[in-house]
Amino acid sequence: MADTQSSPGTAPLIVRRQDYRPPDWLVPEITLDFSLDPVCTQVRSILTVRRNGEHDRPLKLDGDDLTPLEVKVDGQALTADQWSMEGGALIVPLSGAAHQVETLVELAPENNSKLMGLYASGGLLCTQCEAEGFRRITFFPDRPDVLSRYSVRLEADRARYPILLANGDPIEQGSLPEGRHWALWTDPFPKPCYLFALVAGDLACNADSFVTMSGRTVKLGIWVKEADLPKTAHAMQALKNSMAWDERVYGREYDLDVFNIVAVADFNFGAMENKGLNIFNSRYILADPDTATDIDYDGVEGVVAHEYFHNWSGNRVTCRDWFQLSLKEGFTVFRDQDFSADMGSAAVKRIEDVRVLRAAQFQEDSGPLAHPVRPESYMEISNFYTATIYNKGAELIRMMALMLGRDRFRAGADLYFERHDGQAATCEDFVRAMEEGGGIELAQFRRWYEQAGTPRVRALLTHDAASQTAELVLEQTVPPTPGQPDKQPMAIPLRISLFDRESGTSRGDELLMLTEARQSFLFSKFAAPPLLSINRGFSAPVVIETDRTQADLAFLSAHDDDPFARYEAMQQLMVNVLVGRVGGQAVDDAAVVAAIRNTATDPSLDDAFIAEAIRLPSEAYIGDQLTEVDPDAIHAARESLQHRIGAELEPLWRDIHARTQANSFSLSAAAKGARKLRNTALLYLCASGIEEGAIVAFSQFSAADNMTERQAALAILANGSSAEREAALDIFYNRYRDDALTLDKWFQTQAFAFHPDTVDLVEELGRHPDFTLSNPNRIRSLYGAFAGNQWAFHHRSGKGYRLVADCIIALDKINPQTAARLVPPLGRWRRFGEARAGLMRAELQRILAQPGLSRDVTEQASKSLD
Ligand code: ARG
Ligand code: ZN
Repeated sequence: MADTQSSPGTAPLIVRRQDYRPPDWLVPEITLDFSLDPVCTQVRSILTVRRNGEHDRPLKLDGDDLTPLEVKVDGQALTADQWSMEGGALIVPLSGAAHQVETLVELAPENNSKLMGLYASGGLLCTQCEAEGFRRITFFPDRPDVLSRYSVRLEADRARYPILLANGDPIEQGSLPEGRHWALWTDPFPKPCYLFALVAGDLACNADSFVTMSGRTVKLGIWVKEADLPKTAHAMQALKNSMAWDERVYGREYDLDVFNIVAVADFNFGAMENKGLNIFNSRYILADPDTATDIDYDGVEGVVAHEYFHNWSGNRVTCRDWFQLSLKEGFTVFRDQDFSADMGSAAVKRIEDVRVLRAAQFQEDSGPLAHPVRPESYMEISNFYTATIYNKGAELIRMMALMLGRDRFRAGADLYFERHDGQAATCEDFVRAMEEGGGIELAQFRRWYEQAGTPRVRALLTHDAASQTAELVLEQTVPPTPGQPDKQPMAIPLRISLFDRESGTSRGDELLMLTEARQSFLFSKFAAPPLLSINRGFSAPVVIETDRTQADLAFLSAHDDDPFARYEAMQQLMVNVLVGRVGGQAVDDAAVVAAIRNTATDPSLDDAFIAEAIRLPSEAYIGDQLTEVDPDAIHAARESLQHRIGAELEPLWRDIHARTQANSFSLSAAAKGARKLRNTALLYLCASGIEEGAIVAFSQFSAADNMTERQAALAILANGSSAEREAALDIFYNRYRDDALTLDKWFQTQAFAFHPDTVDLVEELGRHPDFTLSNPNRIRSLYGAFAGNQWAFHHRSGKGYRLVADCIIALDKINPQTAARLVPPLGRWRRFGEARAGLMRAELQRILAQPGLSRDVTEQASKSLD
């Protein structure tokens, strides 16, 4: 990458993993004193610093947008010539082995629109420090391998900020003159500064408790606006379930006397695992049946678990540097996925997780922003909170768990936690703990951390009647990715099974290790050619290519005893038809229709699985199977197949829609499954073209006692142009206009709509009085959703690209982190044919030409053009 942005005196543009050096100075203790105020907050900090090793380098304290108002060493004020500034950092030469360094700064949280550091949100003051936000609060060595004990005093106006929270345990509080008050918190566990947090505000508490496995009582608090208290029950239950689960499955107990969660309205991502004080995007805390869908409820459960699990995988054992981010994120995603699988249907959870992986991570892995799970370099670390670090990272842990088996995996995890407790560790440390604790050799497996790109495995099964043997030949390739033109073969664990076509039975599951570029496996005693079921449970994050026929896939869709493989056979059946048709072939869809009928009427299957299995692959997923994406052709092919399935099976959809109607709302797995299937039935029923489609959808919209059915009906109506569409959108808007999280759904539903005017509508919605660039959820609901609507975003006029680029440019001045997250959809230009590619590139160039562009957007846009 060109060094376009560097100017003398600024930090190096590109940070490299190989350049890691231990910190020059350690900070065993820090005392922070906040005098909080939205306009002017004073932060006084006293650092105990200790020279680390033999060197004479000065103390360097990172700072971003900070001006030192006082600098003291060992109680003595320094004069201005005794310290200096270097690219935002404070440099203090020190003579001894240990000193006390004190600084004073002032912040204006009200004007902090980046939502990093200390900022104001809905009357609260709160913080976000990961990855490098602490340097926006005070001068400090802002790197995760500097661990300190924190003592934090907060002071604020009591009427405006009656609740004062920080990490660790509350020690003391008291009153001050002029209506102010204070609270003191200390955290006994040394932690990196990215885990620091404070919250001040007028908050109500859902208070509960949990007794740990050693019999300690932990006070739990979920803090929200008073009016939102009734919406916190699901999050609290999820928290208690997570605490019990981590004890049962990993033997990990909570370690402080209090655990607090705060919900805030303005947040750059999902949530944050600050020690003892998790801060959440309110969308992952608040839920009630009237406003939250089943997906939202599951999101709350999963994210509460994720942040709680970080207490061990992230906080007790943290990361040495940000290249190791997947050490905590991949492992923690794996843990939360496993937890959610235990809480509900494991089969459906796996299908959902793979759908997300393919939609987000496979796309990333095949584009200009592809990077290894352990990256080699970055310009802005915020850009690396990616599906690769999180979701592919989780798949790596899952593969190790599969190869080791439950007990040996647990032994490896035990060794990891025991050996590295209180340390800042690396991905290599984790792999070594698995090797030593689990008793396995992972030399070649390490390539999963090093090589980017989704491996492709070609599987060919042949049969020899004379010897009664079947031979499976597996060939793997890993595509080139930026900076990695040549790849080595990966170690790929593939669960397979061979089915007898006559009886529909198999000999059971086998785990094959594919380690060479090409490998053959022999199976004896097959009188007749068996049928291959491969990558069962999605045992490896790879693309499988086989020569199985539509008849083979239909057979597996009815007989495979692995639920994921069964789902996958259905998906492949549909993909074959759709891809064939987009390519101009007249592919018969009879096998698809028959398989859907068969699946939807199979009494051994539960509703949630049926709904997953019979839904059509997304337009984006169809596009991913093609060398050049034609969004219009894909849309047309998918709509027409959906219509066919609707029309051919119309009575079935009516039956299912009627059968799945509930009398009263419940969050049981069965009730959630019924709603999922009911919405799918409504979709197909409306797609069938029956005259009363909009009326049926509108009546579901009106009669629903829950958001899952209401929003699904609204989305179906939004795809059409009926009078009911307008009516439903108006009703929804008027009902929820004062509830930001639910109003987000109104924006999102329209941005997702398969409607020829979506692009114009999104432009209008961008000017709607309820649209604002200051709230990341609102931006994601409109522009994020729109950029994920392949047909609308890639409108041949290029207008969709312009809208998103305009948003990026405007938002970059306010909140670069969230702006940068909108860039990757524009970076996929290589896949879209010359005309669209030209339009997309022009928008990327226009973005890059903006003066004063952030490092966040610069990195994403320039890499996207390369
Ligand atoms: N550690 C948080 C989580 O996954 C996310 C922090 C995201 N930070 C960022 N700069 N994008 O739970
Ligand atoms: Zn996380």
